[in-house]
Amino acid sequence: MAFDNGVADFRSDTVTRPTLAMRKAMAEAEVGDDVYGEDPEINRLQDEAAAIVAKEAALFVASGTMANQIAVGAHTRIGDEVLVARGAHVRQWEASAAQANSGVAIREVDAPAGAIDLDQLGGYLNQRADDHVGVYRLVSLENTFNGSLVPLDHMARAISIARDAGASVHLDGARLFNAAVAAGVEPSEVAAGTDTVAFCFSKGLGAPVGSVICGPSETIREARRIRKRLGGGMRQAGVLAAAARVALAGWRRLEEDHVLASNLALALRDVPGVGDIAQVDSNMVIIEQEHFPVDISRFLTELEAQGILCGKLSSTTMRIVCHQDVDSHDVERLVGVVRALVD
Ligand SMILES: Cc1ncc(COP(=O)(O)O)c(C=O)c1O
Repeated sequence: MAFDNGVADFRSDTVTRPTLAMRKAMAEAEVGDDVYGEDPEINRLQDEAAAIVAKEAALFVASGTMANQIAVGAHTRIGDEVLVARGAHVRQWEASAAQANSGVAIREVDAPAGAIDLDQLGGYLNQRADDHVGVYRLVSLENTFNGSLVPLDHMARAISIARDAGASVHLDGARLFNAAVAAGVEPSEVAAGTDTVAFCFSKGLGAPVGSVICGPSETIREARRIRKRLGGGMRQAGVLAAAARVALAGWRRLEEDHVLASNLALALRDVPGVGDIAQVDSNMVIIEQEHFPVDISRFLTELEAQGILCGKLSSTTMRIVCHQDVDSHDVERLVGVVRALVD
């Protein structure tokens, strides 16, 4: 259902608002000083998060960006290079934090729909003995990637190539649970073989704030120090962890978002003039201008006038994201606007 003011916001799943159950849990949360490790709600959340991805330990942090940046800091030394899929969040949308905070360079590897080119990956990693390049000490994967599921067997091959070359592997699983739903597996299977995995409570899972980084106990101890260095030590943040625990327990609900996105893509494909819409694996529908009969900027303005917001990834690419705060009625309204403009 759209927000109380009638706005249907499809720009991102980050716009989701805490549910009543989350608000109640927040009000009742048992808290303590987490910098002393004494917030019971955070400790419970960290245990649950580590368990669900089958890692030894976890650390609650402010955001997905902070989780990724802590991972980069924990796995690398100044001067190292990090290998990522082209367009990865950690490279493109984190304000050069890896360079600024950890002193590393980032090398992008071609990655159609987020699936990193394995030959290129191996090629870079084989340069490790060459003094002309920084040491590739970390490979950072991302799943889902712009809504696409990176096949798990592909991830496994990338991980094995990284391992053989002695590099660590981090998974930016901001939408790890969407990947699990899309692949029809448990979250631990998506994270299998990685050293660390980060995921967000504040996207499709609907919590107001927070992410987590999970991995071996020793790495998470180091992660705590890096979080402190970044100014991310939190005190009575159990009120946030309480909402995150409700979010985590409800991860299977994401299936509904995937069905909604897939129905939206089906309905759009029926509109005259709409061409190829990329396969919908999870909760995002990505539309390129060349396949859309109306100028994307004009369409977004028209939608906005009718209380519907969609995202613009570039001047030629639109993104429509389904989540708990939109429903099939909002999807019908959206499709109705396209139809009216095409007629
Ligand atoms: C794949 C991915 N990683 C990391 C992040 C960062 O999360 P946050 O906005 O909580 O910093 C995002 C945010 O949208 C994301 O899409």
